[in-house]
Amino acid sequence: MAFLICGGVPLVGEIRAQGAKNAVLPMLFASLLCEGGVTLYGVPQIGDVGVALSLLTQMGVAVSHGGDGSVTLDARAASAPTYALADAAAIRASAYLLGASLFRFGEGAIPYPGGCSFGKRPLDYHKNAFLALGAEWEEDETSIRVRGRHLHGARFSLPYPSVGATVNFILAALCAEGESVLYGFAREGHVMDLVAFLQRMGAFIRPEGNALYIRGKCPLAGLSYTVPPDAVEAGTYLIAAAATGGEVTVRGVRYGEISPLLLCFGEMGVPFRFLGDAVTVYPARHLRGTSVSAAPYPGFPTDLHPPLTVLLSRTAGGVICDLVWHDRFSYVNELEKMGLCACCSKGSVRVRQSCLQGATVTAPDLRGGAALVTAALVARGESVIRGEHLIARGYEGFAEKLYRLGANIRISAEP
Ligand code: EPZ
Repeated sequence: MAFLICGGVPLVGEIRAQGAKNAVLPMLFASLLCEGGVTLYGVPQIGDVGVALSLLTQMGVAVSHGGDGSVTLDARAASAPTYALADAAAIRASAYLLGASLFRFGEGAIPYPGGCSFGKRPLDYHKNAFLALGAEWEEDETSIRVRGRHLHGARFSLPYPSVGATVNFILAALCAEGESVLYGFAREGHVMDLVAFLQRMGAFIRPEGNALYIRGKCPLAGLSYTVPPDAVEAGTYLIAAAATGGEVTVRGVRYGEISPLLLCFGEMGVPFRFLGDAVTVYPARHLRGTSVSAAPYPGFPTDLHPPLTVLLSRTAGGVICDLVWHDRFSYVNELEKMGLCACCSKGSVRVRQSCLQGATVTAPDLRGGAALVTAALVARGESVIRGEHLIARGYEGFAEKLYRLGANIRISAEP
């Protein structure tokens, strides 16, 4: 399927942020940690959640859907994942099955996790974290197996604040004998949301400075929990509003997560207001260029860097570096088909003022696809954005929300 967009229309109106993709995915897999039902409210209807629920169902987790969009999971009849769990290769978050399986089964095997293709996405930090806790790790080109029925508390330092490795260390340390300490952990909002979720389950996890203290063997009970809002989804709409010269309010936003984008808006001259849990962007008389480095929290979030490139093309330009993913710039080639004036070098793109024209382009990945849609909303004329399924992995009802904001957009079979 593809998005068909006729650009040049300022976005106007109000929407609410969906549940956070990168918070709900670890929560879904963490349902394996407790004896009892876990009910999640505000679960986003996105592709990656569908894959995660399919994986858990194949493992024997009882999954039921409430009429209100809630999902209830009960892992009491579940069995350990095996290489046969082919869907695991579709998403990166399936890596969390390793930590959750060590907790519940003392072992687990999955195909090598997939996700957006930003070059090689190693799991060496995950492996070393598990080895530090006393688990075994075996891998080949296609799959990974972990084993460890008697994990012990450990003090482990991450060489880089990896989101995934932080999540996996926490999940495995919760079944270790004694206390573990993780130094240099990732502090993204969705990681701290998982910590809050696990604390509500009964886990003893305490962040203190650069260290995360985790006590193993605490009994964990089922719970009901509301998935926190997705700052990346919210930021994508705010950037699109600013790029099209519109006025849009996004509700359900937490200041701590959206503040790096608001700082960037301030530098670029994008008028905005943050009130309560809502951000409103207003039309700008003049936009200024800037330069941004995407970095681990509290830096500018890497997942908003691709859409920001489009906004930057509406100004005198600037440079966007990505210190997290040096190879997530393949979307630039597609934007150049729409008239973007840019020059890429390893880990960065220099953007100059551009006049975007409609074109037929293909989404390379989730956030790159969102950037192409943003560009099509700005461009003069019609665009076709192929790879709608990649964008649907992380954005719930993307076309519907944009249509509600006045965009001339529809989904169609790929022409
Ligand atoms: C999570 O990916 C997110 N995915 C990504 O969002 C996000 O871009 C990323 O964190 C950074 O914030 C999910 O939460 C499902 P990392 P993850 O481990 O966990 C290197 C989106 O669009 N690294 O923090 O894979 C790695 O190569 C997606 O929603 C190792 O070298 O990210 C990268 O350069 C895209 N060895 C850096 O660390 C490892 O063992 C960041 O990786 C692990 C990571």
